[in-house]
Amino acid sequence: MTPWAPYELACQDATPHGVVAAVWIPDRPEPAPPEVLERLHPAEAAFAATLRGYRQGQFAGGRLAARSAANLLGGTLGPVLPDARGAPQRPPGLLLSISHKGSLAIAMASRVDAAVDTPITLGADLEDYGPPRPGIAPRVLRPEELAEVEGLPEARRWIAILLRFSIKESIYKALDPYVQRYVGFHEASVSLDLDGAAHVTLHLEHGEGPFHTEARYDWFHGRILTSARIWPARR
Ligand SMILES: CC(C)(COP(=O)(O)OP(=O)(O)OC[C@H]1O[C@@H](n2cnc3c(N)ncnc32)[C@H](O)[C@@H]1OP(=O)(O)O)[C@@H](O)C(=O)NCCC(=O)NCCS
Repeated sequence: MTPWAPYELACQDATPHGVVAAVWIPDRPEPAPPEVLERLHPAEAAFAATLRGYRQGQFAGGRLAARSAANLLGGTLGPVLPDARGAPQRPPGLLLSISHKGSLAIAMASRVDAAVDTPITLGADLEDYGPPRPGIAPRVLRPEELAEVEGLPEARRWIAILLRFSIKESIYKALDPYVQRYVGFHEASVSLDLDGAAHVTLHLEHGEGPFHTEARYDWFHGRILTSARIWPARR
C-alpha cells in the first residue's frame, strides 16, 4: 500500500469476485477539499456537497475508488450516484460495490456481459479485524451459526463471527436490488471454508427468491474484504 495520503490511491488488487481499488480517506468528520471534489464527476461533486461529517469523505473516496477500479477493467465511469435506497446506481456493463472503513474506501468492480440477460449483482464489505466485539454474535448470527462458532477454539471465534457479519453485509448489498427492503442478519446463515469460500443459506422472511448466492472472504492488506454475487435461480 502507498503511505497514507488523503484521497490518494492506496492500492489496487484482484479477488475472484472482482478487481478492487482502495483510496485513503480521512478518518475524521471533515469536508473534502475543493480540489478533491473537482476530481469527481460534476454530478457526484454536487451530491457530495450536500453531505456532512464523515459522509463527504467516504462518498468522495468511494467514487475515486470506483473510477480507479473501472479503469483497471479498461472502462470509464459516468457519475455513480446513490439510488433511493443508498445503493450505487449500476453502471452499464459493470458490477460495482463500495465500502469504507476507517481510513480506507474501496470499490470492487467486475464486468458483466450485457448480452446475457441473467441479472447478477455484487456486494462488497470492508472490515477491520479488531478490536474483537464478540458480544455482537447473538445480534448477527442465527442459532445454528452460534452453535458452530461456540464449537470452535476460543482464539478462532472472533474471526468466525466477524467474517459472517461482513459476508452478511455484502449479501445485503447484493440482495437489495432484488428485494428492495431491509433484510435482517437472521435472514441468512453462513458457513465458512478455510480457503475463502462461504456457503450461504437464505431464510428470507418475505419469501423472495430462490437465489443463487456465491460469497467469499479475502484478507486485504491486514483488513477483511468480503463479497457476494447473487442471481435468481430458476424454480
Ligand atoms: C447498508 C449497509 C449494509 C452498509 O454497510 P456499512 O458497513 O454500514 O457501510 P459500508 O461502508 O460497508 O457501505 C456503505 C456503502 O454501501 C452502499 N450501499 C448503501 N446502501 C445500499 C443498499 N441498499 N444496497 C447496496 N449498496 C448499498 C453505498 O455504496 C455505501 O457507500 P456510499 O454511500 O459512500 O456510496 C448497513 O448499513 C446495513 O444496514 N446493514 C444491516 C443490514 C444487514 O447487513 N443485514 C444482513 C442481511 S443478510
